[in-house]
Amino acid sequence: MILTDDEQRMRDGAEGPAVAAAMDLLVRYGQALDAERLCTVRNVAGTTTQPSPVKARLVAEGGWDRAFSIINLDADETLPIPPMAVPTCQLQQGFGPDSVGTVPYPPEFVELQTDGEAFVGARGVSVLATCTPYQVGNLPVRGEHCAWMESSAVVYANSVLGARTNCEGGASTGAASLTGRIPCWGNHHDAHRFGTHLVRVDTPVSSFRDWGLLGYAVGDVVQEARPVITGDHALPDLTDLKHFGAAAASSGGVEMYHVVGVTPEAPTVTAAFGGRRVPEPVVFGEAEKRAAYERLNDQGSDTDVDFVLLGCPHASLDQIHDVARALDGRRLADGTQLWIMAPRALAVVAERSGHTAVIEAAGGRVLTDSCPAMSRAAPVGTRVFATDSAKQAHYLPAILGIQAWFGTTAECVDAAVTGRWRGDLS
Ligand code: F3S
Repeated sequence: MILTDDEQRMRDGAEGPAVAAAMDLLVRYGQALDAERLCTVRNVAGTTTQPSPVKARLVAEGGWDRAFSIINLDADETLPIPPMAVPTCQLQQGFGPDSVGTVPYPPEFVELQTDGEAFVGARGVSVLATCTPYQVGNLPVRGEHCAWMESSAVVYANSVLGARTNCEGGASTGAASLTGRIPCWGNHHDAHRFGTHLVRVDTPVSSFRDWGLLGYAVGDVVQEARPVITGDHALPDLTDLKHFGAAAASSGGVEMYHVVGVTPEAPTVTAAFGGRRVPEPVVFGEAEKRAAYERLNDQGSDTDVDFVLLGCPHASLDQIHDVARALDGRRLADGTQLWIMAPRALAVVAERSGHTAVIEAAGGRVLTDSCPAMSRAAPVGTRVFATDSAKQAHYLPAILGIQAWFGTTAECVDAAVTGRWRGDLS
């Protein structure tokens, strides 16, 4: 791998042992991928503070310097961790102190995380605590090289923003935050961003639910390739695209997609394919839509719902407002809980706008920082949950051993106030 003089200096220890370990990690990682060089990055989205038993043990042994060294730098010894070299944010993590009393989450993890926030905050990390940093001010420009984790954020950054990132991990983002570098391969190169599959939408796709179904079906077909969407769909908003990408990254491993005439690298079909031959289309019609819907609902059999989960990826303000409107003047059924997950910064706005008070008056909660899948925490005794998120319907049954129903936000709110699932695809 070719290193610049500055990169070689870092590797030789000119900026201290932690930066040297970070550069060594990036070189090993890049060599394994046959990357010829490193990209300069000024935007890192990773995770340091997410609690775990291993992290608790490492912090007890040698503080957060030790946890960061072992987990985020793949080092063998405890190194003093300096301030981050480039702007870095903390993605979603565990639940925080304001969830106590609602979420059954270990208090020692809440305490560990609070301690971790102080450590990384003092080193310049912005604790956004959300899987949607792009909703709360972290907006890389088109063409900007980044080092981001979290599949739903990565696919959004590449596809909707036109930024360039692979799906990184805790160690590579840790190393990137101390060096401002990441191996230059995959989505950083033009050749890996052009479309591979043409998808023709032949049935109306016009709602938040429909975009999730389309994403779920497309991810299943293309797996880790790059779909180009054309055809009979309405103009998606950013929340629709958030759902589409998260769904495609769940059923497959999509990190980059194009919606012709909408996303920045696809003004035309020809441009989306980089002038290469356009393949025969894969059709998304009524049958494919129904198949995706049935697959997302094949974990549900009991129509008595005891938990409704909204906001995956973390909710936009419009989504929180929609839920507040749907719940206004109503009450949740006895024994049923409703949580909507949101970025902390947007939860502040939702509270000031009065949406949270309406949701809480009905018995629901706006929660931040995490989600049941990430923290393996749902209301005690949950057997059946309903969600408007294809990603949660895909993952949560396996993580928590519970049944799932997937549908519209309105159907989920109906389930919360009646305690019954009455959704269908009509
Ligand atoms: Fe975010 Fe949790 Fe969904 S971290 S993308 S709300 S699985």
